[in-house]
Amino acid sequence: MAVLPIVLLGDPVLRQRAEPVSASELTSRAFGKLIDDMIDTMREAQGVGLAAPQVGVGLRLFVYESRRHEPPIPLTVVINPRISPLPGDLIFGWEGCLSIPDLKGLVPRHAALELAAFDRGGGPLAKRVEGFEARIIQHELDHLDGIVYLDRMTDLTSLGFVEVLDDEGD
Ligand code: NI
Repeated sequence: MAVLPIVLLGDPVLRQRAEPVSASELTSRAFGKLIDDMIDTMREAQGVGLAAPQVGVGLRLFVYESRRHEPPIPLTVVINPRISPLPGDLIFGWEGCLSIPDLKGLVPRHAALELAAFDRGGGPLAKRVEGFEARIIQHELDHLDGIVYLDRMTDLTSLGFVEVLDDEGD
């Protein structure tokens, strides 16, 4: 396993639509290694999610995990995802991104959704999620469509450096 370089905003790969993972690709050794490396990279960077375009790979794959969140969000590998938002108001919450270091801002997201995808074995992954996990999934799915959280912000005045905002008690 290896820690991969994380692509920063400005790199075109972050603005491209990623390609679906094919059935043959999904079971390949190289794809398994990519997943393992992405998990290592996410953990090393202390992120809660990482999408393949963020390591320069234009495939519809992301991983997420938050061991610090209460309750903890288990490690999940998501391939070729589709989401269906559940009815309800959008909720604002803080987001940052490993490809946009040191900043965070308030982003409106669906409060709950249904996720349908494949897991790393190629089996079905279907779950209903809400709260922080739903936020992570929406953030990471956006990466697969060339969208970053800044694009979703409706009020850029909340954007700031984590170091400064956390000092102010947020
Ligand atoms: Ni991100």
